Amino acid sequence: MPAARDGRFFRLACGFVLIDGEVWAIGLAENNRARPSGAVGSVNKTDMIQLADAVRFPATAAQLRPERPADQAGIDALVARAFGPGRLAKTAERLREGNRPIMDLSFVAEQDGQLVGCVRLWPIQIGDARLVFLGPFAVDASQRSLGLGARLIHAACEAAAKAGEDAVLLVGDLAYFSKFGFEAVDPAKVTLPGPVDTRRVLIKPLVGGFPPYAGQVQPC
Ligand SMILES: CC(C)(COP(=O)(O)OP(=O)(O)OC[C@H]1O[C@@H](n2cnc3c(N)ncnc32)[C@H](O)[C@@H]1OP(=O)(O)O)[C@@H](O)C(=O)NCCC(=O)NCCS
Repeated sequence: MPAARDGRFFRLACGFVLIDGEVWAIGLAENNRARPSGAVGSVNKTDMIQLADAVRFPATAAQLRPERPADQAGIDALVARAFGPGRLAKTAERLREGNRPIMDLSFVAEQDGQLVGCVRLWPIQIGDARLVFLGPFAVDASQRSLGLGARLIHAACEAAAKAGEDAVLLVGDLAYFSKFGFEAVDPAKVTLPGPVDTRRVLIKPLVGGFPPYAGQVQPC
């Protein structure tokens, strides 16, 4: 989990050093002074990633909140900027047209009264299994690489888990979404209502492991 203090987030500035033969994790504190956060014994990639999440300096003051109906125009404008005119031809759009986002599980990020991020969840089914479909997911170009996208994904997935949803499906890059627990679906089990690169169809179980899903993905 990202470290949150006073609603602000802190971005990676850390490393490891040897002190008297012990490996210590060093984080850059808010006052920009190096502060040893503890002896960590041995260090591997997972340690590094966890420490990177724990030690952050102020990155963005954007605040998250659940989506409201009045956000529609701001979301449309952000999504048009992020994805361009080809967005409406995407297969993912077939799962959204005629469907409605679940407001309690969809989030926006605001900074200085401007909508700078969004993630939406939609009700879908695969065969008899009910899931939620994630997208569009976008952060304004002025706010990227500050952890806002990660905060939006965490917020949506946590809200969906609390609401009792079994799993989240999306079409996106595994390179980005794997860190949130998404993995590629079995392409033999799932078809979408249009052409799609099956390596980009990703799923994340929420509470009780994967629901038994197989068949055509459709809005519900
Ligand atoms: C994808 C997006 C929402 C991420 O927002 P963000 O606030 O920048 O996300 P985070 O800060 O959590 O993560 C940023 C990191 O993810 C990386 N990243 C972004 N998109 C990526 C992708 N498709 N594949 C792999 N890595 C990606 C960035 O390079 C950045 O790396 P850095 O921290 O080393 O600089 C934003 O880049 C965006 O709006 N892109 C255009 C729309 C889009 O592609 N949406 C996703 C469609 S599923």
